[in-house]
Amino acid sequence: MTAPRKLFVKTYGCQMNVYDSERMAEALGTQGYVTTDRPDEADMILLNTCHIREKAAEKVYSELGRLKPLKAANPDLKIGVAGCVAQAEGAEIMRRQPLVDLVVGPQSYHRLPQMEARLRRGEAALDTEFPAEDKFDHLPARPRPKRGPSAFLTVQEGCDKFCAFCVVPYTRGAEVSRPAARVLDEARALVDRGVAEITLLGQNVNAYHGAGPEGGDWTLARLIGALAEIDGLERIRYTTSHPNDMGDDLIAAHGQCDKLMPYLHLPVQSGSDRILKAMNRKHTAEQYLRLIERLRAARPDLLLSGDFIVGFPGETEADFEATMDLVRAVGYGQAYSFKYSARPGTPAAERAGVPVAEMDDRLQRLQALLLEQQRAIQAAMVGRDVRVLFEKPGRLPGQMVGKSEHLHAVHAEAPEAARGRVLPVRITASAAHSLAGEVRAA
Ligand code: 5AD
Ligand code: SF4
Repeated sequence: MTAPRKLFVKTYGCQMNVYDSERMAEALGTQGYVTTDRPDEADMILLNTCHIREKAAEKVYSELGRLKPLKAANPDLKIGVAGCVAQAEGAEIMRRQPLVDLVVGPQSYHRLPQMEARLRRGEAALDTEFPAEDKFDHLPARPRPKRGPSAFLTVQEGCDKFCAFCVVPYTRGAEVSRPAARVLDEARALVDRGVAEITLLGQNVNAYHGAGPEGGDWTLARLIGALAEIDGLERIRYTTSHPNDMGDDLIAAHGQCDKLMPYLHLPVQSGSDRILKAMNRKHTAEQYLRLIERLRAARPDLLLSGDFIVGFPGETEADFEATMDLVRAVGYGQAYSFKYSARPGTPAAERAGVPVAEMDDRLQRLQALLLEQQRAIQAAMVGRDVRVLFEKPGRLPGQMVGKSEHLHAVHAEAPEAARGRVLPVRITASAAHSLAGEVRAA
């Protein structure tokens, strides 16, 4: 038997890329590849890339530059670029960095086995189509080996919203939902492998409208209801959502479905109606705040997370202050904030930008406020009992780390056997990015 070939995958960007990387590794598994965490011993290196901001996209080229010595040491090494930079830039990547052998977009990676065969014949391989066939129908069934207790599952891809700053509608294409039965089958297969928590993924996941098993489309709420029936699946989450797609049934599910966790990532981007309009978000700050009220009425302990952009073209100090006011009104447990980055091909890229110094200043002020809120919410957990799904060994010997229902990382002394189990933990301390606690008798 020949030794298996080794694949090293480096993932950038969002959780969907994490999911795609797993599926790409499984697809190449059919060609005899096993994954390695050492690039220097790999036969193939795949960079699964992100195009969302300029910085993210440029990282790919600096990483490719760093791979040069590896290619020099092993001329048989194959280097591939996958993901959203591959989709957006295609063959340009090979022109700019000739050491790249393969470029594959997020909708065509089921063709990786054939592409790999081309590489072995000494040909380059490029595929950034949006093929008519569904990649999920052509990927190998999810393999059997045991895996960690928390998994991602893509249920929806693409976006039809066309926010003026965003490349996703161009890199990931139009909105497509997977049929409910396929999602349920994949979820059962994951639970059979020891998964206790599934995070449903989509660029616009709450716009989910997959075909139901008996005809008619299912909403995300209905899908969550069906997933909740799976024995052994303890926790369900979903991300990322658009405020305009929070249907009544989904809001209600937050109050009714015990397995749906009390955490919601609901980006708003800005608190200024003028900027929201310029961003083509199609809702006002007030509408967002009313939505949060309804969600909290359904689930009072819901922890909110958000995304913000500062320095969108035309943003004044007053607009930025409106964002600060909205953040104060909501109180986020967690948030991501970014300086606006002009992306080629998006409508906003044509508009005059805000000076960098102002963007820096606003980002700093916003992040200070968000951090203050995050710390206050974490500190309020001290003394409380929370339920933790333990996932892996912690930093210190004898420690395990897991996630609370509110998605806080929690460290506690626990045996290895706690992995994959949900245990009650009394929180004793709050650190910068995690909580510490003691496991209580169940
Ligand atoms: N510039 C800065 N941030 C952006 N995001 C998306 N596009 C841009 C851009 N051009 C942010 C948004 C989005 C998150 C995934 O990334 O906040 O919700
Ligand atoms: Fe990056 Fe968006 Fe593509 Fe995810 S979908 S990899 S965040 S550009």
